[in-house]
Amino acid sequence: MAWIVSTTVTKTLKDVKFPCNYCKNLLPKTRYSFAIRKYSVCKMVSDTSLERTKQGLIQHKKEAFWFYRFLSIVYDTIVNPFHWTVEMRDTSLKQAQLDSRDLKVLDAGGGTGFTTEGIVQYVDAHNVTLLDQSPHQMDKAKKKPALSAVHFVEGDAENLPFATNSFDRYVSAGSIEYWPEPQRGVAEAYRVLKRGGIATIIGPVRATHWFSRFWCDLWMLFPTEEEYRYWFQKAGFEDIKISYIGPAAYKGIREHGLIMGLTVSGRKPLDGPSEPVCSLGPMKESLSTPYTWQQKLLFPFRWLLGCIAGFYYFLLPFFIMLYAALFIRRDRSIKNQD
Ligand SMILES: C[S@@+](CC[C@H](N)C(=O)[O-])C[C@H]1O[C@@H](n2cnc3c(N)ncnc32)[C@H](O)[C@@H]1O
Repeated sequence: MAWIVSTTVTKTLKDVKFPCNYCKNLLPKTRYSFAIRKYSVCKMVSDTSLERTKQGLIQHKKEAFWFYRFLSIVYDTIVNPFHWTVEMRDTSLKQAQLDSRDLKVLDAGGGTGFTTEGIVQYVDAHNVTLLDQSPHQMDKAKKKPALSAVHFVEGDAENLPFATNSFDRYVSAGSIEYWPEPQRGVAEAYRVLKRGGIATIIGPVRATHWFSRFWCDLWMLFPTEEEYRYWFQKAGFEDIKISYIGPAAYKGIREHGLIMGLTVSGRKPLDGPSEPVCSLGPMKESLSTPYTWQQKLLFPFRWLLGCIAGFYYFLLPFFIMLYAALFIRRDRSIKNQD
């Protein structure tokens, strides 16, 4: 009986729009029935358990800018070979469904162009745009012959300088961990995609070992699978898929967290911006906003401590790979789920 009433009410009210009590945005059709039952409060807004309050020390735009001012010098030599390998990139780009050379693709936080080099294997380079907030990282990418036809744009992943509905695919590898407001970045991915477009984000996964968790939380954002899923759902994506990746030499060791540990993708079902982008308000940080004198005073200490925490993750792979080589005979299976 309850089922009949609920179904009838849902069907009768199918074309009526209900504003979310919290953000006043009209809820998309798929959430009507839920909204009616829950007194018109958007599900995602009411789920505050997944709202992060703490940020890592380098999870700020200016801190990340200066971090890459120096790291860019050695980035291609010391970062990717130990954290983001060609095999991992190939696996993640399969999930991105780069199935035509004519696709218009945005690589947000594209840095030195390692992921972009993978993208141009499937898509014509002149259809690809690499955006990054660090000119130092992009200078390295601009020198790579395979990327000579790529468009380079200096900009912010949380405030993309592109029109709504302009790309077929959005890819971002290893950048979300620096975004002060990851939800805003994911909503921007949604906005710039065309209907049916696919966003793929590759990022870290939080450590479960207490010692590594201390350093990863101090450094930047190492989200959980639930957080990735939450950001994608809240932005409005459908067909959300999550798969786990990791360097083969780690033989499945994951408890210390992985800088590149997970690929999440989702499809944009409707035209237009991400709705409802509840309660995001004005953007918290921008590279061009000057720091107050207190912030300036604290900056060197915070930044240095953040870099030390990052250095832990520079050393860790050597220990993991040594341990794996000596003590693990067969690879532990990598958790994989859709
Ligand atoms: C770990 S690197 C990843 C580079 C590249 N995607 C790759 O696969 O090697 C992270 C990049 O994100 C960029 N980044 C961080 N925050 C950003 C933001 N808010 N907007 C745009 N780029 C950002 C950094 O400048 C850096 O180049």
